[in-house]
Amino acid sequence: MSASPATPGSRVTVTTLARKKADGEPIVMVTAYDYPGARAAEAAGVDAVLVGDSGAMTVLGYDSTVPVSVEEMLMLTAAVRRGLTTPLLVADLPFGSYEASDEQAVRTAQRFVKEAGCDAVKVERGGTTADRARAIVAAGIPVMGHVGLTPQSVGALGGYRAQGRTAVAARDVHDAAIALQEAGCFALVLEAFPSEATAAIMPALSLPVIGIGAGSATDGQVLVFHDLLGINDGHQARFVKRYAELGAAITAGIAAYADEVRTGAYPAPEHGYAMAPGEAERLRAMLTDPGGI
Ligand code: KIV
Repeated sequence: MSASPATPGSRVTVTTLARKKADGEPIVMVTAYDYPGARAAEAAGVDAVLVGDSGAMTVLGYDSTVPVSVEEMLMLTAAVRRGLTTPLLVADLPFGSYEASDEQAVRTAQRFVKEAGCDAVKVERGGTTADRARAIVAAGIPVMGHVGLTPQSVGALGGYRAQGRTAVAARDVHDAAIALQEAGCFALVLEAFPSEATAAIMPALSLPVIGIGAGSATDGQVLVFHDLLGINDGHQARFVKRYAELGAAITAGIAAYADEVRTGAYPAPEHGYAMAPGEAERLRAMLTDPGGI
């Protein structure tokens, strides 16, 4: 069954996503990091928007997701909130802002809801993260889990590489997913995981699973805004499909502008403002003979 676009005006909730999974309707999620990105996602009718900590790299220029701060993520999330009405808004809790204790996790999640207006938060990995997820859920905030390739632990994982390529490794990802499900997560992101392994673990997962590089057996897909629109240069993960080449279009647009400024073609008369009739002559007279008028 193909997805029907989210209906403008009727807000997508965690219940909507559960219903879509039950009905076999694919869930569409995209990342966004600012107001125009949110407006575009809203107009395109996606179900959910993730203010991913990938924003650390795509819009803040860090070389991984690890350095991004709570304050930076709050600013990005609040900008997306201002541009979004219908899709569910989920924000990543950044590395170091939720792992230490349940109290830290709840306090940080509350800031994202109170100060940035997001509907849900996302946390990475199983293990103790499942305890943190349970505490945030108990505090009344919906939590999305994230397993498979979890970029916040890129050091421990030995780089940005697919996870679960052996049966034992795939079972570990399965166990992490189950732990997050049992902790009360309303949905899960499954990243960079072999398609056969996804198909094998899906029957055990009753919550909506949104894949990125995890094949087609998931309940939905998510892609990073800058990847799918071709804004990024540099390394591109195998799972990225580019639906536009905006990076090249943006550079061409700025280069054309620069060229026209240098040749004098811009601004043309139609880009300027006019004075009321006779006022230009009066002004010139005033300036040539300040005491004369
Ligand atoms: O930060 C992010 O953009 C993400 C997606 C890749 C799911 O976590």
